[in-house]
Amino acid sequence: MCGVVGYTGRKQAVDFLLYGLETLEYRGYDSAGVAVLSAGQNLHLVKVAGRVAALRERVEAANLVGTTGIGHTRWATHGAPTDRNAHPHTSCDGRIAVVHNGIIENYEALRRQLMEQGHTFKSDTDTEVVAHLIEDAWAGPAKGDLAAAVRNACDRLEGAWALAVTCADVPGQLVVTRNGSPLVVASCEDGAYAASDVMPLAKVSSSCIQLDDHDIATLHQDGSIEIEDRDGRPVEHPKTLEVDWDASAATLGGYSDFMAKEIAEQPEAIRRLLKDRLGEHGVYLDELDMSGEELAVIDRIYIVACGTSYHVSLIARELFQDWAKVPVICEYASELNYKEPLVTEHTLCVIITQSGETADTLTAARRMRALGCKVFAITNVLGSSAARESDGTMYIQAGPEVCVASTKAYTAQMVASALLGLRIAAARGEMDAAEVGRHFASLEQVPALMEEVISRRWQDKQAAAVFRNARSSLFLGRGVNSTTAYEGALKLKEISYLHAEAYPAGEMKHGPIALLEPGFPVVAIVPADHVHDKTVSNIEESIARGATVVAVATDGDERVAKLCEHTLWIPTCPEEWIVPLVAIVHLQLLARYVARSRGCDVDKPRNLAKSVTVE
Ligand code: M6R
Repeated sequence: MCGVVGYTGRKQAVDFLLYGLETLEYRGYDSAGVAVLSAGQNLHLVKVAGRVAALRERVEAANLVGTTGIGHTRWATHGAPTDRNAHPHTSCDGRIAVVHNGIIENYEALRRQLMEQGHTFKSDTDTEVVAHLIEDAWAGPAKGDLAAAVRNACDRLEGAWALAVTCADVPGQLVVTRNGSPLVVASCEDGAYAASDVMPLAKVSSSCIQLDDHDIATLHQDGSIEIEDRDGRPVEHPKTLEVDWDASAATLGGYSDFMAKEIAEQPEAIRRLLKDRLGEHGVYLDELDMSGEELAVIDRIYIVACGTSYHVSLIARELFQDWAKVPVICEYASELNYKEPLVTEHTLCVIITQSGETADTLTAARRMRALGCKVFAITNVLGSSAARESDGTMYIQAGPEVCVASTKAYTAQMVASALLGLRIAAARGEMDAAEVGRHFASLEQVPALMEEVISRRWQDKQAAAVFRNARSSLFLGRGVNSTTAYEGALKLKEISYLHAEAYPAGEMKHGPIALLEPGFPVVAIVPADHVHDKTVSNIEESIARGATVVAVATDGDERVAKLCEHTLWIPTCPEEWIVPLVAIVHLQLLARYVARSRGCDVDKPRNLAKSVTVE
């Protein structure tokens, strides 16, 4: 995915464009660019392969002056990340500039047609066709009406897009539109703003407008915004969204990186999520918008997600089945999209997605809805597509998660899933109020338990040394903590580029044990639980083959401490299912220390983007 920003108003455009791109950089960071319309009605472009910081240097050196402009930070899909392929892309005459998030699926055919008509292309991107299509429409059917030209061009596109377009012949105007990719706009006293998500706008406005697919918005220099639907009819009452995210939440606030900050924010995020959730009638989850009768007849639950959010689903499955006695199927969204799910009118589909924009998850949700399922979203980002397109949405309220590696969203999503499980179990008569209260009280202990782990981060720093010369590693856990192993391994590989494989500990002897050799790092999650001794046996088997074991163990477990090279201690947890929420904090910290010791950029790992908006 990419980040798109736009501004027209009384201020210098580059100030907001660069700020917005820095805020949106988590969406893609292999190249960036801006186009600014100067007073002399010329478009000035600065584009650079690399980060927004490099763009800022070039823009400042170029002294771009102008009060209308667009900007982009890119995660390459078509064309290598080079200066040439960086957005904005322009028409042949250089008077129309376009930035784009999404994919134009029919770009090859369009490009061929346009070239036959005499258009000259300057990049390898799919996006450039849009600039040329607008150029044709501007000179032809749209007759100098930029919104009409954009609409005309979009009618020929297939795929997904959020577009911001500026034209040197209409200074003080920007046109933006979307189809399948997010875009919000805000009308302010000092001008009109557009961005891929609400975060850059939080600094300038407390509310913004969510465009619907195919809406075309014209932003004017006086701050006014006109919106038309795909047929050119005015949209009188666009959807507005209150922006209650604190703009400073997306700054480092004294931390060296966002990962460190977001790990540290977990206790507070969970306190916020639990606040006012328990009353005399049990867990409040009005967002679910399903009656007790509807919950009682659920015949199965599909939980659909990707990546770290998928790992949340594995824990949720254990809780839902155990508490609500309802069968649960977890599916990677990318897999479900090519299968025939078994659904009835009583099937509930839960989607878990931090960004709310993951293409595979959204496709799966649309499919499940079309099959007659109710879809409930657990998400973080306000007004995201997942929230807009679901029957009910629970926001995890974790605040912006900027680091590409998910940390606070993982634990907050797990807590949200637990609340959902308690609600469904109570509605089905499988859990009485006392038991709901007991589990809720366990959740309330989580923030303090996490704080304790964070205060022991020196243990993770020391254990990171084990990975100094490693090329691979194995993560082991049992029961709910096999998921902790999966998530710990994912964290390590995505930010340190060190291979990590995760297995349920008991499965080790069926294959992965062959990997072990002297010095091979094994991370074993071995809390004080009902499978503790079994996992200790796996640790012993690993040590017998020369592996260097780092254990996550409960305070006082001297047996494990004696066996292992390093022990990452967790305090005693009130229930076994609480352990994954606490133990993962050590593995997040460990991954961060390993990545830093290997000189990696923990916030922006190579090849990744925060949310994958392409299938
Ligand atoms: O925004 P989503 O929760 O839908 O994102 C899903 C995955 O792309 C995401 O969790 C990814 O695996 C993270 N980089 C993991 O840290």
